[in-house]
Order: sequence, then structure tokens, then C-alpha cells
Amino acid sequence: MGTSKKTLFFASVLFLYCASSSAEDISFKITKRYLNFPISHQTDRHQMTFETESEPDLTVNIRLAPEKADYWVFKDVSHLKGETVKISYNGDKTGLKNIYQSDEFAGQDSLYNEKNRPQFHFTSRRGWINDPNGLVYHDGEYHLFYQHNPYEREWENMHWGHAVSKDLIHWHELPDALCPDKLGTIFSGSAVIDDENTSGFGSNGIKPMVVAFTYARSDRQAQGIAYSLDGGRSFTKYEKNPVIDSKFLWNSNDTRDPRLFRYEPNDEWVLVLNERDGHSIYTSDNLKDWVYRSHITGFWECPELFELAVDDNPNNKKWVMYGASGTYMIGQFDGRIFTPESGKHCYATGSIYAAQTFNNQPEGRRIQIGWGRISHAGMPFNGMYLLPTELKLITTKDGIRLTSAPIKETEQLFHPLKSWSNLTSDEANKLMKEYYDADCLRVKTTIKLSHATDAGFNLFGQRIIGYDMNNTTLNGRFYSPQDPTSMELSADIYIDRTSIEVFIDGGLYSYSMERRPDSNNKEGFHFWGNNITVKDLEVFSVDSIW
Ligand code: FRU
Repeated sequence: MGTSKKTLFFASVLFLYCASSSAEDISFKITKRYLNFPISHQTDRHQMTFETESEPDLTVNIRLAPEKADYWVFKDVSHLKGETVKISYNGDKTGLKNIYQSDEFAGQDSLYNEKNRPQFHFTSRRGWINDPNGLVYHDGEYHLFYQHNPYEREWENMHWGHAVSKDLIHWHELPDALCPDKLGTIFSGSAVIDDENTSGFGSNGIKPMVVAFTYARSDRQAQGIAYSLDGGRSFTKYEKNPVIDSKFLWNSNDTRDPRLFRYEPNDEWVLVLNERDGHSIYTSDNLKDWVYRSHITGFWECPELFELAVDDNPNNKKWVMYGASGTYMIGQFDGRIFTPESGKHCYATGSIYAAQTFNNQPEGRRIQIGWGRISHAGMPFNGMYLLPTELKLITTKDGIRLTSAPIKETEQLFHPLKSWSNLTSDEANKLMKEYYDADCLRVKTTIKLSHATDAGFNLFGQRIIGYDMNNTTLNGRFYSPQDPTSMELSADIYIDRTSIEVFIDGGLYSYSMERRPDSNNKEGFHFWGNNITVKDLEVFSVDSIW
């Protein structure tokens, strides 16, 4: 073939290829609230691009089912009504014809009644969730933003999902707040209310909500900001993003998860950023221009830094710093440098990760929400948020420690059913038979050991409490109660359909786990141990938050 013929041949092949591939891409006018997509885990992820006038460049990775769907996911397009959307897909396009728009999303009729839907823990309607982001109170609402993949029940395509609540218990999920764009997907971050409009983003007296997040690409993570003037319902990304780009300073792709707060004594904004091997402090006057101030090693991902009164004494305050695992240091902070005064401690273990606390909580309580790394078999959603807890610093026999216990607002969900005291384990086990089939339950108990060996409490063979006084461990982790000679342990146990949360000795230590009954075990609730006394046992019914 001569050169010109070759060119013609390739040009026509290219033309045919483009024509046939674009022929299969779809394009239509948006008239309904949701676009519904069939998902299959038998197929690999491929790029899907949405082009509309107001969202010209949203590209996500999705496992579009060519035939039978494992489940359906949706995109809320109510803000795009009237616009024409073009959807292209670089995988098997057969499934494109099954995408449909509707005022209901697929499966909406059974929403929150699904078999394995947690009943008193927040979960997203569809898709994967991980870290809570941008926890902030504003104008009568608590905002919970979160890492969200709306298109699948596994991690990918990080968006910021969004839910609001008046009481931190009953949540209303809104459309995603931040979508990926050309600079990257939207990793974790935080939110503040810019009361004095230092950013200049406010207008007409409206105080802007400003969020900081990480723009993530495979080769780089940089920090961006965005603002909302309508209570987090819509965001405008700052046109000069990124505001911090420190990859080369750290020679690392791990620079992420900006945690914003106001440090009043210096009249400055503080941003704590996880960079490579620890947390850095940056400060700013306007939330846009950031100056690096200091760095402390030994933390990974999702920084937290806040001040708490010790033993509720306003004249004795300390700062607490932690990373995603929650292991924390207590120390001093002068607005620029965090100086630890203690070793590292641990207040919670198990499914918890990447917990964040609320900015702006009106009563000054330090309220935390953690990601519960919990799956829900067979469901089109994954992950959940643990009960909101109040964090406190108290003086213990070992020094000052952080405690975490469910906030008082959770009490509305639990209603006393029965309570007993001073039972043998056999008596307690007989009484607990009544709750054999319980879907959700709260159980408060104090056990008293008669030997310094191990004892505990199971549910269908799953160990909720395994307390070994010889090794001084609780479910395998060192735990010594305030009175080390005490033979007692108290536990407040929250059992949801797919998870179990346990708060020990008033929140001195807590842990959470997936609920995994051993299908061969017929015991139900079961206290065990050498001649133990179940000193207190209280059972509560549980309301659904939905
Ligand atoms: C922690 C984390 C963050 C990151 C996010 C991405 O779970 O890895 O560091 O921003 O998840 O989803």
C-alpha cells in the first residue's frame, strides 16, 4: 500500500471506529431526577464520561453490566434537568441502553428496609463510603460529608457524599456535594464556617462554608478548597486550586486530608495535613494562602487536632492529636507547633478508622464520628458510620486519657425492656433466651469474675467480650480497669444488624466489629467464665433511625 492509500485506509478505519463507537454512546435530555445504572462485578471497571453544559467533564470508573445487573446505582441529576447529557463508555457498551432516567432510583421502594441495612448507623443509599469528611454544624444543621463511590460498593471514584441532621441521629442523605474533576478525585478533608468572610467567598452577608479536601491523582496529591453559600447544597471550587501542592517538598505522593479549624488566640486558620510521615501545621488569614509552620512525625492519614478541658475544668486544657488509626498524643499547641506531653495512647480499636470531630458544635462538645469498616452481605452499599461519641479528657490512674462514649442524643433510640442483678451465668443465659432472634439490641452489663482467669460474653459464638485478668487483656488488647484489683468489667453493647459496638467502663476504651454469628452455634447470648456473677444486666429495644 502506498503512503497516501495507507493514510486513507487508516483514516477510514478510524472514521468507522469513531462512528460506530459514538453511535453506541448515548445522548438524551434530562427530564427526571435520577439516572440509573446497572452494575456487575463480573465485569472490569471502565471509564464513563458525562458531558452536560454545566458539568462538562465528569469521568468515573464503573462496572457497567452488559446484561444482568448485580445491583443498580444512581446519579442524582435534578440540578441538570433540561440539559442534554452525552454518556460515553470505553468498555462494553451493551449496557448503555439499559441506563434509564426516573424520578425514583432503582430499589427506592425498599430503601432502608433492605435485609442487611443497619438500623441505627448511617449508611449511604448506594455505593461505598469511607472517611467522614467536613463535619460541621451550621444554621441548625449538622453536616456529614463523606468519602463516597456512588457507582459501586467498592472504593473508587472518590466524591464527597453529603447528609444532614438536626440531632446527629436521624440523617437525610442529599446528592453528592463534590465530584471529581480534571485535577483529580476528591479525597478526605474538612469544613469550616467563615464567619468573618476572611476568604471573600461570602456575599450578601451569607457566611460561606469553606471545605478543604485533597485532589488525588495517581502521581500526586494536592489540596483544594471550595465554598458553599447555600448550606452545603452546592459548592464552587476555588479557581486557583490547588492551594497547597507539597509533593516535591516531601518527595512523596502521600500529602493529604487537610483538617481545618480556627485558632482564635492568633486570629488565624489552621490546616493540619498528613504529609509522608506525620502531620504538618499550616496557617492562613484567608483560607486560600497557606504558610507551612511545623511538622510532627508518627501519624498516618486523616489528622485531628483539638483542645479539650481536662476533667471538665476550663482552666486546665490540653490538645489532642491523632491520625486515622486514632492512636493519640496529648500536648500543647500554640497555633503553629504541637508539642506532645505524653506517649501515644489508644482509646478505641476494631472497625473504627479515620474518625473526625465536628467544628462549630454549638455547646462546645467535642463530638466525633468514625468510619466503621463494616460490610453488609448482599447489599448495594458498603461501610457505615459508628455512633457519634463525645470525647473527653479525664484524669485516670495512668494519667490523662481520652474517653469516647455515645452522645446523649443516642438515648432516644433505646428503650429499657428488662433489667436484673446478681445472676449466675446460667441464670443470665436463660433470661437472654428471650432475645435469641433479636435483630437489634442494646445490652448493658457488669460482670464480676471469681478467678483472675478469663470470662466473657458471646453472641452465637462470636466473642463480644473476652476479658482475661491474668494477661490483663480485653479481646486480645491490653486493658486494665481504673481499679486494677477490681474483678469487674462493665460494657455497654450496641448490636445492629451487621455490627457490634462496645463501650467499656464508661468509654475509657471502646471497640467495634462486624456482626458475624457462627452459623453452627445455637447458643444465642452466652455469658461464660469460671463461676462469674452477672452483677448487672439491662436490655433495651432499639428504634430505627430511618
Ligand atoms: C483514609 C484515606 C484517606 C484518603 C481517603 C481516600 O481512609 O486513605 O487518607 O483521603 O481514605 O478515600
